[in-house]
Amino acid sequence: MKKRQLGNSGLEVSALGLGCMGLSFGYGPATDKSEAIKLLHAAVERGVTFFDTAEAYGPFENEELLGEALAPYRNQVVIATKFGFKEGKPGLGADSRPERIREVAEAALKRLRIDAIDLFYQHRVDPNVPMEDVAGAVKDLIAEGKVKHFGMSEAGAASIRKAHAVQPVAALQSEYSLWWREPEQEILPTLEELGIGFVPFSPLGKGFLTGAINENTQFDKSDFRNTVPRFSEENRKANQALVDLLARIATDKNATPAQIALAWLLAQKPWIVPIPGTTKLHRLEENLGAAEIEISPADLSQIQEAVSKVEVQGDRYNEQGQKMINR
Ligand SMILES: NC(=O)c1ccc[n+]([C@@H]2O[C@H](COP(=O)([O-])OP(=O)(O)OC[C@H]3O[C@@H](n4cnc5c(N)ncnc54)[C@H](OP(=O)(O)O)[C@@H]3O)[C@@H](O)[C@H]2O)c1
Repeated sequence: MKKRQLGNSGLEVSALGLGCMGLSFGYGPATDKSEAIKLLHAAVERGVTFFDTAEAYGPFENEELLGEALAPYRNQVVIATKFGFKEGKPGLGADSRPERIREVAEAALKRLRIDAIDLFYQHRVDPNVPMEDVAGAVKDLIAEGKVKHFGMSEAGAASIRKAHAVQPVAALQSEYSLWWREPEQEILPTLEELGIGFVPFSPLGKGFLTGAINENTQFDKSDFRNTVPRFSEENRKANQALVDLLARIATDKNATPAQIALAWLLAQKPWIVPIPGTTKLHRLEENLGAAEIEISPADLSQIQEAVSKVEVQGDRYNEQGQKMINR
């Protein structure tokens, strides 16, 4: 697997990471633990060195799972986790008070069974805590050797600049994919200027861009996508045109829609590292195949022209979630 550098931070990871959230949280019932461990081992064996989790995934279970599964590979992998919600529960709102950041770090180190967190992201900007204080708290943890790199998620450009001035930010993790391209406007130029890496989450559009979901798909009642306007039945129907275009481009390239969605992201900038999530080995292998696909400038223009014909319908989050992004 090819490697990439996350901006100027010196943090090197596999060109594609593995988003681990869905193994415990968000998309229906958790995967059976022994199956989840097998999948994580299979990822390491196939060259994945970048694993994404958060206190909030479960909460806590996903970090515990990674701690157990990745213990034999501790020195070969980069584990990224996140702080920033009250009691680790997104529904309770943001909490990035410095004392809470420290508490989360200490608990995450235990759950992950590591001596230092490779990359510690603020999950969402907390409007009640100045960015300088958040960055300062992480800076202290870095000075103590408990954290190696600082990251942010779904932060606006002004917050990134404030934080970066106190403690250099290694990576921003925000949604970016063929159906959510807003980061191209202000965020990517800011990251390029500051030398910050970018980790697109939901790079497969939470599964939609793969073609495996359509207007008839029934999600489990605990599936987060039931609350996402973009996944309402009528919006899925409207947004299907984008997946159809992607499928046509994929056929021409002898690839799958998921692979084109990921290869397109990789082709945007050399400091972009997508973290697709899956609970299934055959999909993991399919997704990792995207790192081998060459997307030429002509392919990029063809994709650009095709997707510009479709206006994607529906917000990415419900009302409460929308308030927490881009702050
Ligand atoms: N910072 C944040 O706020 C934030 C928010 C969301 C996610 N994340 C992180 O980003 C990671 C990835 O995002 P995500 O899981 O939301 O979305 P994603 O990677 O875009 O899509 C994951 C979904 O697609 C399905 N899938 C994966 N590969 C597939 C393939 N080749 N063919 C068909 N279906 C496929 C998966 O189902 P199966 O499991 O059935 O394969 C799963 O339901 C998460 O795991 C998490 O670590 C971060």
